[in-house]
This record gives sequence, structure tokens and C-alpha cells, in this order.
Amino acid sequence: MTSSFHKYRFFIPLILTVFSCKNAIETKVDKEIIIEKKVDSLLKLMTLEEKIGQMSQVRHFWDISKNDVATKFIGSVIHTQGVNPGETAKEWQQKFIKLQKQALSTRLGIPLLFGVDAIHGQNTFNGATIFPHNIGLGATANAKLVEEAAAITAIEAQATGFNWVFSPCIAIPYNEKWGRVYEAFSESTELTSILTKASIKGHQGDLSDSKTVMATAKHFIGDGATEFGVEGGETSLSNNEINKRLMPPYKIAVNEKVGAVMASFNTLNRKPMHANKAYLTDTLKQKMKFDGIVVSDWKGYTKFGRNNIVNAGVDMIMAVDGDLDYFQSNLKKAVDSSYVSEVRINDAVKRILRQKFRLDLFKKPFPDSTLVSKIGSKAHRDIAKQAVRESLVLLKNANNALPLSKETKKIVVVGEHANSSGLQSGGWTINWQGTSENYKGATTILDGIKKLSKGNVVYDKDAKGNYFDADVAVIIVGETPYAEFFGDIGHESNTRKLTLTKEHQKYIKTYSEKGIKTIVVLISGRPLVVTKQIKKSDAFVAAWLPGSEGDGIAEVLFGDFNFSGKLPHSWPNVVNDFKGKYGPNFWDKSIKPLYPFGYGLKY
Ligand code: BGC
Repeated sequence: MTSSFHKYRFFIPLILTVFSCKNAIETKVDKEIIIEKKVDSLLKLMTLEEKIGQMSQVRHFWDISKNDVATKFIGSVIHTQGVNPGETAKEWQQKFIKLQKQALSTRLGIPLLFGVDAIHGQNTFNGATIFPHNIGLGATANAKLVEEAAAITAIEAQATGFNWVFSPCIAIPYNEKWGRVYEAFSESTELTSILTKASIKGHQGDLSDSKTVMATAKHFIGDGATEFGVEGGETSLSNNEINKRLMPPYKIAVNEKVGAVMASFNTLNRKPMHANKAYLTDTLKQKMKFDGIVVSDWKGYTKFGRNNIVNAGVDMIMAVDGDLDYFQSNLKKAVDSSYVSEVRINDAVKRILRQKFRLDLFKKPFPDSTLVSKIGSKAHRDIAKQAVRESLVLLKNANNALPLSKETKKIVVVGEHANSSGLQSGGWTINWQGTSENYKGATTILDGIKKLSKGNVVYDKDAKGNYFDADVAVIIVGETPYAEFFGDIGHESNTRKLTLTKEHQKYIKTYSEKGIKTIVVLISGRPLVVTKQIKKSDAFVAAWLPGSEGDGIAEVLFGDFNFSGKLPHSWPNVVNDFKGKYGPNFWDKSIKPLYPFGYGLKY
């Protein structure tokens, strides 16, 4: 007996694991069966008005008046920027608790989903931990880190009252002129797929935990592949190309049980994606078996075909900027006249209720007040700083110009981007289009250099200070913040170019021509054509849009950490390479980039 026990004792943990895995799987299956039953029985109780209400997403200020949530049976509330619901996170929570109570006071007491554009951290809240934008996370190629960043974003989003984020953007950018390149991880489908999985895992966990949120894979499909990089423009790719290059991250997202997919602003072969039944319903829902919510993008209902977008498969409508009443009455009319079937409405509502049950909102409708203390905590910022360090790509390092010695007698730090957490963070930071102001809790690149240097550090904002006795010039140049539309190169609203501004080119020239060792750090949401400036500098670093932990950059410049970032995009050589519909990498492989995808030096 004893001897046979000894013989088999090694198998016991294995058998237990098999059993517990099996149990876990069974419990998961059981849970899903129970949820489906609950969804079905709740749906049976609902009137058409209540169903259409569930399909409505509104802005909590501005779009609605006092009792709208209850009287119009609203399903979800969105926050992007603008009138702050309150100063502190507690006040934000209180505001949302009030709205949630309205929803719970209705006949069926269905809780609200609160969605937020937390694109790189809970960036709508002043004081949150803000991560490098996805292009920087792409440069880290570190899936574990991306998962951690997403989990922290989820906690800080929950702490400010949200249970849903409109992230990650899993586009494959075809043209650096697109103003949303930085929202995507990479031009590589493979890298994007790996990081998509990590991001969704980190945001969602098992969904029912009060520290996690529902994620959104966006924008389905072709957002980054429009001709000439125009936001919401025309994408003319073949189905083959879409399947090969754009679809794999969505497949991964659906496998990872992403809660929502957002329809894209672009047209696909002239048809608005919002009205593309073949992709939204036949491919995404039926073929790929996506059972979550297809949410429209901003004003998608009035912009892209009204009830046709519901028929195409959009389940929840961002009924903002005056769209709400029209959407609700017009959809009702369409159901009454059978233009939209009840079957379609039921499918949409089931998907919304399903996610609310998966999030356990019926039991836990309110945010957890104990999470407030985690917003912008040191532990969270440490991970963000690690992400900053790992996102930096060293493009040039002539004569080991870097790392800088901490004993360097005099360092001149040049450029307004060196001393502004707003400028270093890009769009979707505090405001939709970003800010040029410093924001709460963030550190700048200049802060970091001052902290680590043992010598004299002087700041020359516009390179007019003539600090020509400096041993080293660290010059920070780049793009000013932008988000969708306003960031497109070629868009009528701006004069953005694929090159640095004349002023920024001059900053570099001023110091390099005096023979001062010149280190350039580029802050940008995309690779820029900086071939000449790279030649003029001794070392050149692509730092993307690092977010709130700007001082992490100094830790690498001074050699406390080595560079590990690798280019998530191939780096262009000349502007003329972008004269076609797409970037050179996507239309003419014979055009050689200055640096290939995956390039990056080390000490
Ligand atoms: C953007 C989305 C965003 C939504 C809500 C749209 O204009 O395309 O990415 O989530 O607004 O703010």
C-alpha cells in the first residue's frame, strides 16, 4: 500500500490539476449557460422602447437632460473629454453612481455600461498614469508589459467610474500621413496580433472582476489602410489583403473574448463600414463567432445610413451630439414597418445584456471606491516608466555619444518638448486633441535630466540662449499633439508635414554647427523624415509619445538602463516615398527605408 502510494504520489498533483482544470472549464461553461438563460428571460420582459433604449449610448453631459437615463432606458454612457464630471475621482464616481441609480430605478433595473476613451491609460483624468501610446508599446514588443499596462488602465478606469474602454486600436497603418498611426501598435500584423492578445487579456481579465473593464477592438475594419492616410477615407484593399494583413489581430481579439468591436469610419470599396453587413455580420459575428457588442463610432447612425447600420449588424449606437431622440424614434418606426426585424433588435440587445451579465453589473453596478487610491500610484507609474524606457529606439550613436556621463560639466537641454508633459504625450491626453500644458503627476524629460545629472543643466527653450560653452546639447524636437482628423498630414485643418518644422530643424543646426555633441530625442506619433537631422546629430533617439513618465527617458540617456526598443514601423528616408496611396513599405518594396522594421541599437 505504502509502496504503491509512493509509486503514484507524483501523479496526484497532476490528477488534481486535470480535475481542477476540468472543473474550471465546466464552471465557465455553466456560467455561460446561466448567463444565456438570464439574457433570454430578461429579453422576454422588454418592450421595444426598452430594447431600443439599451441600444443607445449617450454623453452624460450635454446630450441628455436630468431623467433621460430612466425615461429613455439608456444602455450606456460615454465619456471622451470636455466638461469634467468633477474634480476628484470620488466625484466622478458619485456622478456615475447617480446615473446608475437612475438606470436601476427603471422597471427592469438594467445597469448602465460606462465607456471611456482610455487610449493610453485613463487619459481623460488629470492625475492618472499615462502610458506611452501604442506605437511606443509596439517598440517594446513586450507582451507582458502591454498586459500589465492594460491591467493598470483598467484599474484606473474603474477607479474613475468606468467599466468599459474604447481600446485597443488594432489597426495596421499603411501610411504615416494618417493622424492615428500612434494609436496602433505596429505596421506588422504579427506584432500587432501578439500585443492585441496581451492588451485584451490585461484589460478584461475574466470580465467579472471589479478591477477589470470590457475592452474594444477598433476600428473594424480598414481604418489604417485608407488611401493617402485620410481618417475615415476610402480603403480599397482586396478581401485577400484584408484577410492576410488586417484580420489576424481581430481573430485573436475574438478568441480572447473581447467584449466589443467598434465599426470604422472608413468606407471599404466605397461602402461605409458601418453599413457593411458582409463584414459586420457574416464575417465577424457568424464566421468568427464574435458574440459581443458591435458599437458604432461617433454619430455613426446619422453619418452612415441610419437603420441600414442596424441591419448591417451594429448593436449599440453612439447617439451623441443631438442624435439620441432621432435614433430612438426612427429605429422604432423602422421596426414598426418591419424595415428592421425584431430578430435583429433582439440579437443586438442580447449581446448588450450578455456583456452586462459577464461584467457582473447586475450584482456590482457601482464602482469600487477603494480603487481611488491606486490612481497614479507609484506602483503604476513604475510600470509606465519601464514602458517608456523599453519604448525608446536608438537609431544612431556615433562614437558612443550615448550614454551621457552624469559627471558632464554642462548640459544644455533644448526645445519646448523637453519641458512639457502635455507636448510629450500626444493626443488623447486630458483633452481629445491633447494639451501643450503640464498635467498632474507627470514628469518631463528635463526633470529627468536634472535629477540624474551631477553637473550644470541649463534649459534653452527655443535655441536662442547661445549656451555654446555646453559639453552636450540634448535637443528634444517633434510633433505637437493631435488626434483623429487633425493629425492627418494633408488635412485642411493643419499644416503638418512628414518633416520637422523649420524652427525644430534650426534647434539642431544651432548646436551641432558649433561642434557641440548633439543628442536628438524625437517626440512623434509616427516616423518622420529626419534623414538630414540624423546626419547632423551624434546620437538620435525615437521616443514616440511617452506619456506621463518623461523622466524615464533620462534614465536611458544616462545609461542606468540600456536601449531595448525596436522599430515597430520601417523608417522613411525621403518625403517623396509617400507620394502614393500608401507608405512605401506597402506599395513598393523596392524603395528602401532608412531603417528597416525591427531596427534598434544598444549600448
Ligand atoms: C473615434 C473613436 C472613439 C470615439 C469616442 C471617435 O471619433 O474614432 O476611436 O472611441 O470617437 O470618443
